[in-house]
Amino acid sequence: MQRILEPELMNEEEQARAYAAADFEEPHSHFIELFQAAFPGLDVTGFALDLGCGPGDIARRFARAFPACTVHGVDGAEAMLRCGQQIIERDREVHERVELVRGYLPGATLPRDSYDAVISNSLLHHLPDPAILWKAISAHAAPGAPVFIMDLARPQNREEACRLADVYMPGEPEILRRDFFNSLLASFTVEEVRDQLRQASLDYFSLELASDRHLAAWGRMPDL
Ligand SMILES: C[S@@+](CC[C@H](N)C(=O)[O-])C[C@H]1O[C@@H](n2cnc3c(N)ncnc32)[C@H](O)[C@@H]1O
Repeated sequence: MQRILEPELMNEEEQARAYAAADFEEPHSHFIELFQAAFPGLDVTGFALDLGCGPGDIARRFARAFPACTVHGVDGAEAMLRCGQQIIERDREVHERVELVRGYLPGATLPRDSYDAVISNSLLHHLPDPAILWKAISAHAAPGAPVFIMDLARPQNREEACRLADVYMPGEPEILRRDFFNSLLASFTVEEVRDQLRQASLDYFSLELASDRHLAAWGRMPDL
């Protein structure tokens, strides 16, 4: 099945609210566990960057997992950031260590030039040009910084995408189910991401299927 693009930014109010209210406990805690397995024993300190942070659920979980780090999340959608800001303000454990900023990639102005870790979940499939993600990583990750990227993996066909939407979005609002289905169609295969990594000179990164609907790529930036 060919990739079918979906709208890049998630800036509809209803869409952002449904996404922020959804239960992502399973995939998002899996993201943190996979990061920890990819970099065993690592305690991230300093500043981490979450690219395409949405309402910041991964950023908050990352801040909780690594209490000595501050997380900056960047997203181009004001509606998503508004929802995220309200959630963060209520989260007394991490609210002083998570900052969400509005920025459109490429060219976003970030609070820092360089980050001690870079993470991203489910941004890649939104980008018409996937090179934008890998260029942002190369531009903002410090030498030696751990990088961990997770995204959906494109199924073989629409029927499989439909089945996955039935399995993983039962009882969720229709707008969320629609977005998930469209996201599956817009996502990349492992082979396509391998090619992207090659073009970005990051082909030494590890890359594998991380679940029946996710892929993950990770590695460290080269030392100076
Ligand atoms: C599916 S959401 C993922 C949100 C979050 N990472 C999570 O896992 O819950 C993808 C996010 O990427 C943002 N996005 C898409 N293209 C972008 C771009 N070029 N620059 C910044 N953000 C972008 C969207 O607005 C949306 O909030």
